[in-house]
This record gives sequence, structure tokens and C-alpha cells, in this order.
Amino acid sequence: MKKLLGIMTASAMAASLLAGCGGSKAAETTMAPAETTAAETTAAAAESKAETKAEAGTADLKDKKVGVCIYQFSDNFMTLFRTELENYLVEKGFSKDNIKIMDGANDQATQTNQIQNFISEGVDVLIINPVNSSSAATITDMVQSAGIPLVYINREPDADEEKRWEDNKWDVTYVGCDARQSGTFQGEIIADLGMDKIDMNGNGKVDYIMIKGDPENVDAQYRTEFSIKALEDAGLQVNKLDEQVGMWQQDEAQRLVANSLSQYGNDVEVVFCNNDAMALGALQAIEGAGRTVGKDIFLVGVDALEEACQNVLSGKQTGTVFNDHISQSHTAADAAVNYLTGAGNDHYIGCDYVKVTAENAQDILDSLK
Ligand code: GAL
Repeated sequence: MKKLLGIMTASAMAASLLAGCGGSKAAETTMAPAETTAAETTAAAAESKAETKAEAGTADLKDKKVGVCIYQFSDNFMTLFRTELENYLVEKGFSKDNIKIMDGANDQATQTNQIQNFISEGVDVLIINPVNSSSAATITDMVQSAGIPLVYINREPDADEEKRWEDNKWDVTYVGCDARQSGTFQGEIIADLGMDKIDMNGNGKVDYIMIKGDPENVDAQYRTEFSIKALEDAGLQVNKLDEQVGMWQQDEAQRLVANSLSQYGNDVEVVFCNNDAMALGALQAIEGAGRTVGKDIFLVGVDALEEACQNVLSGKQTGTVFNDHISQSHTAADAAVNYLTGAGNDHYIGCDYVKVTAENAQDILDSLK
């Protein structure tokens, strides 16, 4: 684990230099959340609240109950995330029997029921990956009125909602990466290839198709927007041939990309997928259409799933972006502990993405072992 954190710190620094944003803030917050927030907790009311909790929070973590809600268990990335989260909570001293993880089955009503059940069961802290980020205000209100601290993960609520936590000094935070950075990295991976390679039909433009995740989700929105912005910022002209919603799923993406390829044929030069599960589906469609990544088409995803990294190494995927489920799950668990001990947290705890190409895909794979 130490090895991984070492590599990630170096990579995250490199990434933030490349991105020119957010790195140091994220690193500081991630590495010392307790110190940062303790210093910031200046209001008298908040101080006395923290003191009361510090006394109550010294009880052993093994007796504390943690409720975890995941939007959908079948999601590849969230499976990595929740497995690491559970292992790390146990490593921190929680009892496995006191950690309950629920599958929201991509249905907000189902998840809302699960949250209500957790509240009735009297869990000590909640970690929630909402089905709909737009339901965050309702979720926060329910959890807040029950006096339970809340850590949101992966699907970021909007700025108005985050402001409410701050204004009311509620024990609510969000742990995640800035999806704009992942989109920018995708665009840069393509731009770095150079127009000579990309522009196979010679029309002076990057002709692309975009396969989006759940459009309600900021990750999908920002990756779609910022990948193309990075191409334009590099001075390239772009031409969107098609944009489709694959809902983060491999089979759906395979179907959509197969359709696009049969419609636009050799004009498709780049396939952008908002995540790697969909890039794996896109690759099946690309191969099915007799095309070859790296030769007559380019393909990028996000997450750095193991299979996608292997494909980057063998040239079947042009690149991906590491969505660090290890640091995010650990930081989310640490934030839960900080609430239980009364140390508290900032209301936003960030992390960095890492650009992945054939040059560093093996390092990423090694770091995940
Ligand atoms: C993204 C991730 C996707 C999917 C989504 C779910 O961060 O890249 O693969 O898991 O979260 O909200």
C-alpha cells in the first residue's frame, strides 16, 4: 500500500503540473484532513460541537456502524471502489459485521429506502454514492435531521448543495476528483498524437464520436466537455460526428459504437468514451468493424481498469486516465473516522487523476497489485 501511495504522490504531482490546477490543494487536503479542518473550525458553536463529539468519539471504531450506499453494484469502477473501501474500513478498526453496503440498483427510490433503513437502524456514519446527484439535498436533509454525519463519494452534488453544508456547518462532505481534469487529460492524449496522425481523412479536423456516461452525472458532463476543449485549446479543429449515451456500460457502448461506425465509416478518427467499461465495448465494435486502434482509429477512456491498461500496453486502446479508487476510498473512510472522532472535515476533499499512456500503463498496473 505504501508503494502505491508513493507512486501516486509522484504521479499526482506530475499530473497536477501537467494540468496546472488543483494538485497541491488536493494533496494537502487528502493527506492531512484532520489538521486542515481543525484549524478552520473557528466558530464558537462549531468548536463546542466538536468538543462534545470528541468525547463521545473516542469509543473504539469496532463498535461503530457504517452504512454505505452504492448507486449500482454492477458498475466496474464502483466495484473496485467499494471493495477497497470495505477492506480499508476493516484495516482502520471497524468490524466487518458493522459495515453494511447496499446496492441502489440505479434507482433513487430504492436507495432512499435504504438510507431510511440505515437511519432507523441507528448507523453512526453514512457514506453515500447517490443514484441521482440532484437528490442530494433531500438525502442530506434526511440524514442531517437524524444527526448522522455524511460522506458523499463519486457523484458530486452541485455547488448550491455544498454551500448549504458550509453555511450550516453540517457534518457533510464530498470526496472525489474533479472530472474536468479527466476530460482534459483525455483530450491531451489525443492532441499529443499530432494532426498528421489523427487526421486520416485529411479534412483538417478531428472527426470524433463521443460515448457518454449517465448524463445526470457531472463526471459525464465534464468529461464530454473538457476532452473536446483540450483539443480546441491545442489549436485543433473538431468535428462531432455522433454523441450517444452509453450509461457507463460496456454492452451499450459496443452497440452504439457499432452503429456509429456503420453510419460514419472511415470518417471516424477518434472514439471518446467517458469511462473504460465503455471503451472496452467500443473496442469490441471497432474490431468487429475491421478497424485497428492506433492504425486507423484512436480510442480513449477513463478509470484505468486493469483490462484497459493491458489494452493500452498492447496498443488496443490509445490511452486512459487513472481514477484513483484507492486514494478516494481511503480518504472517504478517513473522513468518516474524522467525523466519529470529532476532528471534522472540509466540505470538499479532492484528489488528482493521472494520465495513462503506453509509457506509464505498466507502472499503474504494478501500483494496483
Ligand atoms: C465515474 C467512473 C465511471 C462510473 C461512474 C459512476 O467516476 O469513471 O466508470 O463508475 O463514476 O458514477
